[in-house]
Amino acid sequence: MGEQVRSLADEVEAAVTAAMGAVLPPELAGQDPLVRRSDHADFQSNVALPLAKKTGRKPRDLAADLAAHLTGTWLESVEVSGPGFLNIAISDAGLLDRLAVRLADPRLGVPASQAGETVVLDYSGPNVAKEMHVGHLRSTLIGDALARVLGFLGADVVRQNHVGDWGTQFGMLIQYIVEHPERHWRGAELDEQATAVSALDELYRTARAEFDADPAFKERAQRRVVALQSGDPETVAAWKEIVAESQKAFQQVYARLGVLLTPDDVKGESFYNPWLNDVVAELRGNGMLEESQGALVVFFDDIKGPDDAPAPLLVQKSDGGFGYAATDLATIRYSVDELKGTRLLYVVDARQAQHFDMIFKAARRAGWLPDGVEAVHVKNGTINGPDGRPFKTRAGGTVRLADLLDDALAQARRVIAERDAEQPGARDLSPAEQDEIARVASVGAVKYAELSTSRVKDYAFDVARMVSFSGQTGVYLQYTHTRIASILRRAGDAKARFDTALTLEPAEHALALQLDEFSAVLDAVAATLEPHRLAGYLFVLAKAFTEFYESCPVLKAEDAVRANRLALCDLTRATLARGLDLLGIAAPDRM
Ligand code: ARG
Repeated sequence: MGEQVRSLADEVEAAVTAAMGAVLPPELAGQDPLVRRSDHADFQSNVALPLAKKTGRKPRDLAADLAAHLTGTWLESVEVSGPGFLNIAISDAGLLDRLAVRLADPRLGVPASQAGETVVLDYSGPNVAKEMHVGHLRSTLIGDALARVLGFLGADVVRQNHVGDWGTQFGMLIQYIVEHPERHWRGAELDEQATAVSALDELYRTARAEFDADPAFKERAQRRVVALQSGDPETVAAWKEIVAESQKAFQQVYARLGVLLTPDDVKGESFYNPWLNDVVAELRGNGMLEESQGALVVFFDDIKGPDDAPAPLLVQKSDGGFGYAATDLATIRYSVDELKGTRLLYVVDARQAQHFDMIFKAARRAGWLPDGVEAVHVKNGTINGPDGRPFKTRAGGTVRLADLLDDALAQARRVIAERDAEQPGARDLSPAEQDEIARVASVGAVKYAELSTSRVKDYAFDVARMVSFSGQTGVYLQYTHTRIASILRRAGDAKARFDTALTLEPAEHALALQLDEFSAVLDAVAATLEPHRLAGYLFVLAKAFTEFYESCPVLKAEDAVRANRLALCDLTRATLARGLDLLGIAAPDRM
């Protein structure tokens, strides 16, 4: 591993903090130094304004005092401006020095800031015997990006796919299948369009209708649930077959999306069955369980339902069955005791916020979640249709994820064909190459659209906007990557080397600052669990590169300048490729 360097954003923050320590009483010196990137200087700190009030000094005087105490090998100048802002400029040599370290390191000099953390990361969580729908896309992609970023930063990431593979619905489904052998659902028995899972999805809906309409079927279905729970071999075999068929379909979607999840990551609801009795017994021992309409529940002082009555966490139903909540309590015990997690992250739809709030509070009270362990519901919003309304098929059904990916692929083919028609002969790509480009572009487009949106916000799935060569899109970033790759190809053997003796053009300086910020951005993603910060950063980086390339000739420049500019190209390419990879997006060399 190469040398590691913190981002200048962190260095400047530390330097302003040190200056505060020299100038202020200790109780004031520890506060946030309020350092930001700025249009007026490389960095700006506004900290003198709030501090002046507290110390009774004039803001400009305090700022001047801080400026006099500010030091750093990278410091070009520091000035007091306006009412008491500190404008901090970074020297070209200081910048280039750090970039040289980054370029020499395959990790781009990024420190392993999450080393020592064990992150248990629960994401995707699709449901067996149902089509994977657009709702599961967000958790899958956000979770995967977090797995990559946290892993890159040195955390030990344990992926957990909490598949919905248990519950009374399986009794209903299996009973119906047993009674209707003529209703085929196995892959080999189906007509062309159907998949085993789409057939199961359909069967489940019919079973549900029969369950609601026919009391005799209802009773048989309930007996089937008991058979499943008590391990009746025929029932368990049927259940296993259904689960395996669904797993295959999930893996197909994961492979198509290029996400990291494997069958080994599946810790479905059924996995936790053996612990559910213990969960209840311990809660009872702790005096946390109360009876409410025959069910066993936990109440909280501060969690209320819509009617303002205390909302219960349902641990065991009146018929003795366990539900989603008991299982999730068991996930916490397992993640802490067995997996030794220090950070438990659940990337799940924001509509489950109250569920996780209750689970975490109950687990703390029961002593399963010790103080040093953090548990976070990493909330995601919903995906709407292109019209901004809830996403439904024309027939009113849920939209299959696979169909959306097909739409994106078709759109990517169109966009690429249009571009090639505008520039005939510019590229001679074989049909197979064109196909591969369209595939890579469409998957990247869907992922980037997801990951560049703040995860709690809802957004519209608009394929035409996603798959475009311009604007803030995955295609634009991939295309910028290919442009730099092409410059580097044309440079041939010409040397790429940072030269600290050079004076940089403004566009070079701006690009260099942006390149240095990569590790600070990754740390921000780790802290906030918001991949859109990385997605946004890469877009700004690509724009900074474009501005640099428009104003600074690379291949035609003189020796040292050319070497330095090639090094900027090289590091930009490497940073874009690494950043896209951490979002799970491919960075092709040609497109
Ligand atoms: N299967 C659930 C759903 O479709 C998501 C599971 C999330 N993970 C968890 N530990 N509850 O809503």
